Formats: sequence, structure tokens, C-alpha cells
Amino acid sequence: MTRIIDGKVISAAVKERVAKGVAELKDKGITVGLAVIIVGEDPASKVYVANKKKACEALGIISEEYALPENTTEQELLDLIFELNNKKSINGILCQLPLPRHLDEKLIINSILPEKDVDAFHPHNVGRIMIGDYDFVPCTPAGIMEMLAFENIDVEGKTCVVIGRSNIVGKPMGMLLLHKNGTVTICHSRTKNLKEVCKNADILVAAVGKAGFVTPDMVKEGAVVIDVGMNRENGKLCGDVDYDAVFDKCSAITPVPGGVGPMTIAMLMQNTLTAAKRQNS
Ligand code: GUN
Repeated sequence: MTRIIDGKVISAAVKERVAKGVAELKDKGITVGLAVIIVGEDPASKVYVANKKKACEALGIISEEYALPENTTEQELLDLIFELNNKKSINGILCQLPLPRHLDEKLIINSILPEKDVDAFHPHNVGRIMIGDYDFVPCTPAGIMEMLAFENIDVEGKTCVVIGRSNIVGKPMGMLLLHKNGTVTICHSRTKNLKEVCKNADILVAAVGKAGFVTPDMVKEGAVVIDVGMNRENGKLCGDVDYDAVFDKCSAITPVPGGVGPMTIAMLMQNTLTAAKRQNS
């Protein structure tokens, strides 16, 4: 029997834990605040930002949204981040990506104070993940680790294959699995014999950005398959895994929607709480 890993249930458990933590701080007179910056009119980004705001409100986290116009200059954005870096009531700062092309993403990310970088995109936090001494983990890989732990899926000694090498998902995902003593391979568009590599995986994480990319011939019997894909096909959200075709081969699988997606926001809330605790300790 294939187990469906339910991101809605697991994210609800994480959010409940965070709400409790926020309430405990509140009892001590400490508030938790997240600033979310969005530049421009990207429709998907607008939806993500609205969802983040909603989650904050539900958990007792104060959210401040800064919706800036498309033609915002780099200096204006840097000035805002400088102000938020120094704002006591703001514990976490998130600048929604992608940014408009005229803005230097690296420069912007680097300007966020590492202790307020709840995305864990700043090189300081990336380096800390590398050495296994971290407060913040990028939300999607953190959510996946939470799912594996919730489902009692042990990573130790397992063959783990991650398809995709992005800074946001693939690379940190590989590091987190490695820290749990998995044997990790990160694949990408130049990987040779991708099918054979994937077929060895006890835990297969697909973060490619191509609908239905993972087919049954790439999946080992009994594998755990984690689908990070958020692809829109004819208005329908679908993952990187050909879910129906692969389902029977897996011991466990995450659906899209309702799998990894809900975990990402829950972990952002978790990182924001962590930031508030650190800044007040
Ligand atoms: N755009 C897509 N995913 C993310 C994310 O996790 N954080 C930020 N800041 N932007 C994103």
C-alpha cells in the first residue's frame, strides 16, 4: 500500500506548534513580526505573499506588507531593507523572488540582516547550513525534512537523489539529507544516465519545474517520492512527478497540490518564530 504524505495535516501540526510558541512569547510581552516585500505585479508572487500574510494572521504573527511598484530603484529597496533591519518590531524580512530584472537579486538578499533572513538565502546562512550549524533553513527543504520526520522515514544510510540544483531547493535539500546521514546525489540538466541514477533512490526528491518529469521507469520499487513541482498546465497545478503512473511503485508519495506546498509557508512561520526567540534571548 502506498502512503500519501499529507502536507495539509503535517503543516497544520507545524503551525499549531508555532502558534503555541508565539503565544508563549506574547505572555512575556514579546511580539513576533514578519515584513514581506513584493516588487512589481507578478501574479504568482502576489498569491504567495497573500498566503504568507494570511498564515501570519492565523498564528498571531504581526505581518507588514510592503508592495512596491515595478519601477522601484535598487536604492529605494535597499533603503527599505535598511529601515526594516533596524526596526525592533520586525524579526523576519522576506523579499519575494523573482525581482524585476533591473534589480540585483544577490545584492538585495545580501543586504538583509542574517538574523532576520527567514528565507535563509543570505550567504551567511547558506554557509551555516553547509557546516550543519544553523538557525534558519530554506522553507521548502525544511518542510520536506519535517514531512520525513513526521512519517518516521529514516534518512540514515539511504540513497537520496535530488533532481534540481537550485539555491532555494536542490542544494540545501542535499545538505539537509546529508546531515541526516543520507547518501546524496544532486542531479541536474547535464546529468548523464539520469534515469539510472534516480532508479537507485530510496528517497527521490523532484525539484525540476517540469510537469510529469518523473516517470515510473525512474522510480525504484518501494521508494519515497517527494514532489516539489508547482507547474501550471491549462490552469491546473501539477507536480514534477507523473503521480498516477508512479503511485503504485512508491512506498510513500507527496501529492500536488496538498503536499510540499503547504509545508513551505508553515516553515516560514517557524523560521520567523526562531528569529524572534534569537533576537530576544
Ligand atoms: N519565490 C518563490 N519561492 C520563494 C521563497 O521561498 N522565498 C522568496 N523570498 N521568494 C520566493
